[in-house]
Amino acid sequence: MLSRTRLTAQQLRSHRYLGPDDLRSFGHRSRQKQAGFTTEDFSGKPVIGILNTWNDLISCHAHFRQRVEEIKRGVWQAGGFPVEIPVMGLSETFMKPTSMYYRNFLAMEAEEVLRTYPIDAAVLMSGCDKTTPALLMGALSADVPSIVMPGGPMNRTSWHGEQLASGTDVWRFWAERGAGRMSCEAWCELEDHIAASPGHCMTMGTASTMTALAEVMGMTLAGASSVPATHSGHARMAAQTGRQAVELAWYHVKPTELMNRESFENAITTLMAIGGSTNAIVHLMAMAGRTDVTVTLEDFDRISQRTPVLANLRPTGKYVMGDFFDAGGLNALLAQISDLLHLDAVTVEGKTLKDAIGEAEIWNDDVIRRRNNAICTTGSLAVLRGNLAPDGCVIKPAAAEAHLLQHRGPAAVFKDYPDLKARIDDPALGLTKDHVIVLQNAGPLGAPGIPEWGMLPIPKYLLQEGVRDMVRISDARMSGTSYGACVLHVSPESYIGGPLALVQDGDIVCLDVAGRELQLEVSEEELNSRRAKWVSPDPKFSRGYGKLYFDETTQAHEGCDFRFLHADGSQDAPPSIY
Ligand code: FES
Repeated sequence: MLSRTRLTAQQLRSHRYLGPDDLRSFGHRSRQKQAGFTTEDFSGKPVIGILNTWNDLISCHAHFRQRVEEIKRGVWQAGGFPVEIPVMGLSETFMKPTSMYYRNFLAMEAEEVLRTYPIDAAVLMSGCDKTTPALLMGALSADVPSIVMPGGPMNRTSWHGEQLASGTDVWRFWAERGAGRMSCEAWCELEDHIAASPGHCMTMGTASTMTALAEVMGMTLAGASSVPATHSGHARMAAQTGRQAVELAWYHVKPTELMNRESFENAITTLMAIGGSTNAIVHLMAMAGRTDVTVTLEDFDRISQRTPVLANLRPTGKYVMGDFFDAGGLNALLAQISDLLHLDAVTVEGKTLKDAIGEAEIWNDDVIRRRNNAICTTGSLAVLRGNLAPDGCVIKPAAAEAHLLQHRGPAAVFKDYPDLKARIDDPALGLTKDHVIVLQNAGPLGAPGIPEWGMLPIPKYLLQEGVRDMVRISDARMSGTSYGACVLHVSPESYIGGPLALVQDGDIVCLDVAGRELQLEVSEEELNSRRAKWVSPDPKFSRGYGKLYFDETTQAHEGCDFRFLHADGSQDAPPSIY
């Protein structure tokens, strides 16, 4: 437990902006009065910056305009001064080439907003996929006391009597349409039902995964990540988050104090137990890179091999997040794996994780399985290496057809995503279910932005034959709502000359998940000959954000952060002289 004394009003960072009797503070106070506030509104109070990722194109956050008012209510009630600061909303749906391309942009924006303004503590309003890691990365680098308000999953919804899962069922029904088993009219009707309320995707996709990990790392109120976006409890949680932010300000609890080695291990353990998104690997490594904690791909594999999967949630399981909430939520699941967690880790509430979990019970043990009835006893995610991925790659075995986890087959190579889209359905390629589909140039730099293309499409003519899964390999990511025998994050990526760039049609690829291997059965001599002929592509950008991204982004096994934002063991504190 962190123990410390409460700051005085004069010790607050904001006091330096608003307190002194000098010319500069006169300017600050007079401009607060310009906004309609009185001295009593802000004098001697912690300033709580509310970083709001709302915009009209991030529909998962459609409720944030209301939630921000509830957070403000909590801040006022606890004696703080709330200030809302809009920051970039990373819309998973609308941003092209992918919202991941802009994750570091939001992280930089959050860091600099926290650094430049007179903020004593921050509320990070996150939800849609990359918003959670981005805001946490920024908060870690600025190291200003912060608390996450998770946006909450969207409502359960059904269609033709069948419960739907956002994202996951889009892929499933698209495959059905490709196979000629779904009409155009039915497809259009589905559009009205697949996302039926504000809130992030209600599967255990990247959004649900990352908010759960934020919770277990101590960065939210206990139980916050499981509360559905439209539940009245979500509004109450928002107000309590505002109240707790004021406490964080007075006691100056910094993110780097909470997000330490133990809490990263807790996050990885939880990732495995919830059967969470492969994307979390990249995000957790990027977050760790903002601290002095070292997290490697081997940490994920090691913890995966000791952790059971207990959440029976789509895309790998049966239920959705509303069912998870009703069954007891994250704390009920954590109670089942408490022996695998560092229970003395501290949360934003000043509690230990043990206290945060409390006596949480399971109310439906098909949704949240007990240890003696796990979905699988180990192996939610696996890290593979081999001559095709010397720096590693990942697969989600639980989301693949089991017979494909040991597979040997000929490669069908596509040089980039347009090539894949143009040719994949061409029967002249003569692909069979045993082929291994390989996509090149879809990684952090090659795409760019390591987009979620990793669930490569299965040729329509094979879908029509009933094939629903094949081994697919790329340096891309996969949506947390996707599934299949998809080998992802191959590193180094093909665009910079990684071995994936050297694969040719017909080469034999051997996938051995149990042995943690991905091998290209081509002689080293032949690979060296191909490497000598490989030509480095021209840079994709000459200016702007694209150039910054291209020059500075690390590979997938390093978290795809900007090199110059890695902490290297130290944090730049917010300037103290302002
Ligand atoms: Fe926002 Fe899925 S589109 S979380």
